[in-house]
Amino acid sequence: MALDLNDPATLRWYLAWYLMAGVDEAIDGPVGRRQPATLPTVPAPAMPAPAMPVPTDRAVAPGGTTAAEMAAACRTLDELRAAVERFEGCAFKAAATTTVFADGNPAAPLMLIGEAPGREEDLEGLPFVGRSGQLLDRMLAAIGRDRGSAYITNVIFWRPPENRSPSDDEVLACQPFVLRHIALVNPQVVVAVGGIAAKALFRTTQGITRLRGQWQGLVVEGHTYPATALFHPAYLLRSPQHKREAWRDLLAIRARLEAP
Ligand code: URA
Repeated sequence: MALDLNDPATLRWYLAWYLMAGVDEAIDGPVGRRQPATLPTVPAPAMPAPAMPVPTDRAVAPGGTTAAEMAAACRTLDELRAAVERFEGCAFKAAATTTVFADGNPAAPLMLIGEAPGREEDLEGLPFVGRSGQLLDRMLAAIGRDRGSAYITNVIFWRPPENRSPSDDEVLACQPFVLRHIALVNPQVVVAVGGIAAKALFRTTQGITRLRGQWQGLVVEGHTYPATALFHPAYLLRSPQHKREAWRDLLAIRARLEAP
């Protein structure tokens, strides 16, 4: 489908893309802005991925309860948040200032799942509020969303020391809560933000470069959620040349959310 570059909504949409890419100033005399472009098509539904086994013997909470038992007992998001706050199976918790559970609107159709809180998130108790969070907000704005129309969490609820990457075991320890989180929010679309979240959710060793732009059926508690992955905004800040792919992925997410 060709874009109508005389349409104000389309032009606003381009502006959102430039803002997401970090452009905050216009210079006179650009050329080629109004050349036709094409919209990506809505990707075909992918084959459902195998259900993720919930680890039942990983971490133990006070009283000897496993993470899986704690998560399964939660009937509401408030109960889940309280259970995560009681959970003692993540080594990062001791050094963290706060538990970073989630932000945004749990009734929104879009659920984004990142890696782990950083310094700013640890201080504020909210996910994605630092520099990469600001870029994530711009990415959401580019597809007409904000924290009122998206829900954001991480696969780890506490800041890893020195912001190091969590190991597979550290990610697995929190996983029952992450899966229950998805089931309780019951979004229309799940998006893994970055390679660590994508590997954890899709239970694969494939890297983000392969996983982004693909759609998978993420099976949680018997329900299949359309799911995909995005480059992490921290990576995009370091490697801005990949914002073009991220933009394409965002358009595909928007198309999926708007699909009947
Ligand atoms: N990076 C993440 O993956 N999550 C956050 O909450 C902040 C930075």
